[in-house]
Amino acid sequence: MTRYDRIGATYNHTRRPDHRIAVKIHEALGQVGTVINVGAGAGSYEPPQTVLAVEPSAVMIAQRPAGSARALQASAESIPIADESADAAMAILTVHHWANLEAGIGEVLRVARKRVVIFTWDQAIFRRFWLLDEYLPEVAAFTETQTVPIDRLIALLTDARVETVPIPHDCTDGFGAAFWRRPEAYLDPKVRAGISMLAQTGEEVLRPGLTRLSSDLSCGRWHERHADLLDCETLDVGYRLLVADL
Ligand SMILES: C[S@@+](CC[C@H](N)C(=O)[O-])C[C@H]1O[C@@H](n2cnc3c(N)ncnc32)[C@H](O)[C@@H]1O
Repeated sequence: MTRYDRIGATYNHTRRPDHRIAVKIHEALGQVGTVINVGAGAGSYEPPQTVLAVEPSAVMIAQRPAGSARALQASAESIPIADESADAAMAILTVHHWANLEAGIGEVLRVARKRVVIFTWDQAIFRRFWLLDEYLPEVAAFTETQTVPIDRLIALLTDARVETVPIPHDCTDGFGAAFWRRPEAYLDPKVRAGISMLAQTGEEVLRPGLTRLSSDLSCGRWHERHADLLDCETLDVGYRLLVADL
């Protein structure tokens, strides 16, 4: 059983692709004719030219919408298809889960002919996100162990350009920092179930920080402290697109 067979059962409830982020990902892919999505999950952000999804979790594959590209149950580290099988490969919010990053990136480079697009986060910025910094130090510590440094990815890809992806205040894809302007969301167990850094940390561990967040929201302390966020439409919370031309 994979990690996402355990924590992914309700992924589709809170992880609906955000159309503004989709535009950025599709622009990064450019005018390619065929795409392989690695670590594809339920298929978020797949452009119409996707020919194959590679995903180890059967629970995630089962959530792919009818009519989406064929899914191969496999891991990034060993993709059972020929070299240069598609123009491009993309890996969206997945590289931090791979058991062997070097092998996974090696495979992504092998199966793509022209371009690789990776969506991930820069921990130097992400660690300053108020939820981790002020309320959940254990989760902050966990993300330090989980994160894939941008420089390491660039080195493995040989070269890549890095694009900032500011997150809209009403982002529909409920990933880690998506609720930066909707703090109440983190008190909802359904939201937490869709965020792996929270789902992998026991509820007992989260409880003191979430109780404090709840009380700061009730008394207005959170809003006082983060008044600057309330007028922002988007925020750079550290999410980055890496685009490598092969
Ligand atoms: C946060 S989800 C992202 C899914 C999808 N890309 C999206 O944007 O919604 C992370 C995905 O990576 C997958 N994953 C975990 N380990 C993997 C590996 N070694 N190779 C490929 N995918 C992996 C998980 O099963 C899960 O579906």
